Amino acid sequence: MERIQIALTKGRLLDETISIFEKVGIDCSELRQQGRKLIFQSNTYNISFILVKAADVLTYVEHGVADIGVVGNDLLLENEKECYEMLDLNIGRCKFCVASIDSYEQNTSRRKTIATKYPTVASTYFRQKGEEVDIIKIEGSVEIAPLLGLADAVVDIVETGRTLRENGLVVLEEMYDISARLIVNKASLKMKKEATFRIIDSIEKYVSTKV
Ligand code: PRP
Repeated sequence: MERIQIALTKGRLLDETISIFEKVGIDCSELRQQGRKLIFQSNTYNISFILVKAADVLTYVEHGVADIGVVGNDLLLENEKECYEMLDLNIGRCKFCVASIDSYEQNTSRRKTIATKYPTVASTYFRQKGEEVDIIKIEGSVEIAPLLGLADAVVDIVETGRTLRENGLVVLEEMYDISARLIVNKASLKMKKEATFRIIDSIEKYVSTKV
């Protein structure tokens, strides 16, 4: 049976992602035990899992090292990658939002500065609104940028809203919905058609019962 490598991300999404694979009958026992390992065998079909950073899921899938990946569409919106987005897994739901401090006066004619980990998403959004902004790319803890005067506002992911709340920020605008997507390498879909579609179809069936 053809070998299928699946790239997953450590972090919030992992548990729910593993549950989906288990629900469609794919053994994830080694993956469940984790520890510090990064490559895991499944006893189902000829599947192995790798655990990488979210952005690297795209890279591994694009290069065909992983046939299938699970990643938030925040990264698909930010990075132009050569792969097929096959399914919305309906997990990891959150939103891209513009946020700032409560007292921020939005409607000035002054050009805004936006701090974000997602410069492409932010610039596309404001361009489509016809608003010119300056974007500052930062790598994390985005929420402190307006507090410290680095930026007027941030573009970031909001899930529960807790990070914003605890840092005294509020949502100014909701931008895009985010959820986890199943992506597939283009060549794998042709060359390993049967093996990839067996997985995709079973997950699609399972996910559609949950909507
Ligand atoms: C995201 C985002 C916020 C937080 C929002 O960061 O950048 O900081 O989650 O979640 P909340 O609305 O539930 O508080 P993440 O935890 O993914 O880590 P990162 O900053 O390392 O990307």
